[in-house]
Amino acid sequence: MRYLILSDIHSNDPAFSAVLDRVQRKKHDRVVILGDFVGYGAEPNEVIDRVRKMRKRKAMIRGNHDKVVCGLDSGELFNPVALKAARWTTERLSEASRRFLEELPIGPIEVDEAFVICHGSPRDEDAYIFSDYDAYLNFTFSDANVCFFGHSHIPSVFSLEPHGIRVDVVRGDRVRMRLKRDCRYLINPGSIGRPRDRNPAAAFAVYDSAERVVTFERVRYDVEEARERIHRAGLPGMLGDRLLIGA
Ligand SMILES: [Fe+2]
Repeated sequence: MRYLILSDIHSNDPAFSAVLDRVQRKKHDRVVILGDFVGYGAEPNEVIDRVRKMRKRKAMIRGNHDKVVCGLDSGELFNPVALKAARWTTERLSEASRRFLEELPIGPIEVDEAFVICHGSPRDEDAYIFSDYDAYLNFTFSDANVCFFGHSHIPSVFSLEPHGIRVDVVRGDRVRMRLKRDCRYLINPGSIGRPRDRNPAAAFAVYDSAERVVTFERVRYDVEEARERIHRAGLPGMLGDRLLIGA
């Protein structure tokens, strides 16, 4: 099976549509989305409508922003800019979009007995995995062989090898990685709508579970347009400006 692994779209429709244009000619069997459909960007309803129209069978979980904008979480831990964007989003969500977000399952969940998905980490959907120690805590918590996660917006692979944990921050427009049989993995495909690895191109991954190969890809899109839409919407300007530098 080939899985399209998408994460952290964050209401950025120009980025999301560019990714969908890239993958439409490629074969994949299922779509996996690791949460944070909305927040920060200017097109929450457009992004959700696009997801709902995707015909392939989907496995999806909620992210921290999804929870806050539909009222399942207060957002008290958000910084003021993120909270402002969340409130802006809440006011503009259509009824169908709000219901879609409310009904998203809580991770971690298992997909086809092939891998596990979560938003922040298997231990805690709101917690980040940035360091080898964060990864270690999650490798001891969950015995999943392969787990895809989002939230950090950094394309990265944490590998539990026989003698320790290896960390790869993935760089490049197209990077293939074959997973070893005797290791376990926590894998982040990166963010479509708000990359934070100083590369503004939208990030996603494809996982071939039979070959055990993950392909990380980057797609350049009209970042200026996404920035403009954020400014025109009256969202905090820095949310648009930071898209230009991938921060
Ligand atoms: Fe996010």
